[in-house]
Amino acid sequence: MAIAETDLGVVNLDKLTYAGNLENLKAVERNERYRFVHGDICDRALVDGLIEEEKPEAIVHFAAESHVDRSILSPEPVIRTNLNGTFTMLEGARKHKAGRFVHVSTDEVYGSLEAPLEATEDFPLNPSSPYSASKAGSDLLVRSYFVTFKLPVVITRASNNYGPHHFPEKLIPLMITNAFDDRPLPVYGDGQQVRDWLYVDDHCRGILAVLRKGREGQIYNIGGNRSLPNLDVVRQVLALTGQPESLIQYVTDRPGHDRRYALSSEKLMRETGWAPAMDFETGLARTVAWYRANGEWVARVRSGAYREYYEKNYASRETVG
Ligand code: DAU
Repeated sequence: MAIAETDLGVVNLDKLTYAGNLENLKAVERNERYRFVHGDICDRALVDGLIEEEKPEAIVHFAAESHVDRSILSPEPVIRTNLNGTFTMLEGARKHKAGRFVHVSTDEVYGSLEAPLEATEDFPLNPSSPYSASKAGSDLLVRSYFVTFKLPVVITRASNNYGPHHFPEKLIPLMITNAFDDRPLPVYGDGQQVRDWLYVDDHCRGILAVLRKGREGQIYNIGGNRSLPNLDVVRQVLALTGQPESLIQYVTDRPGHDRRYALSSEKLMRETGWAPAMDFETGLARTVAWYRANGEWVARVRSGAYREYYEKNYASRETVG
């Protein structure tokens, strides 16, 4: 008998590292079908015990160190969480025969692509940073559990997310929050690197589509179908925040900076009916409005550890041009 989705619960295992924030989950924290567990996916006893106890119908593996610049400044936590953590999750799932295992990955595993190429799921892996290499490695590990142990896995590879609640180390929230504070907007290199922007709700719907309808052992790209050079994005942020272009500051480029990512999501669309619903201009305006209305949230997440990281990443970058 099929289980109604309204009978299912969600267990959220989160280490709450620097970007984790329980405030973002206030809307569900008192829901009786929701359980929060504070812990590390590298903690084998914890992961094992939790999967044994909960017997999940499905595991959606989001947990990762996700920032490229941090992976350049300090690769160790990235390798540990993204590779060892994924291994621990896979072992727990295998041992206790958990259901479908959705591994949330990234378009960065394909590396930089010349226009007009768009990566399909069978493109070679060509990662450039410790972060993207750790994700490519974890994708391969996940695949091996399907081939060797018949664990029912599915892998998703999404493009750049944006939207409310985004930790302000990534391009869009960093530029919005700096613009509100009249601070320089640090553009790496010439700002002509291209990213494909995916609104966070569209990403979530894509993951749900894969969870429900994706085929076991398969990979699905999830792209926003909106490729833009970084400088265009920064200029749109300035227009929406009413700030002058003189705030743009060209700084030393990111080492190994990928020039262009581009994805084809044709497979996901064809097999599940998913399509990105949010157009970039509306999504960006909505995101700017959210940050405008949530200055206290921004102040709280930017205190402490964020300030230390900001100093480390940007103090060493010279202004160029
Ligand atoms: O493509 C999917 C990936 O998107 C995810 O897998 C990653 O977890 C996520 O961090 C993101 O990676 P990017 O490196 O593309 O995102 P980020 O926001 O760090 O940078 C976007 C672009 O903006 C990139 O070309 C670097 C540039 N950039 C970024 C920052 C933070 C700047 O020019 N200045 C900045 O201060």
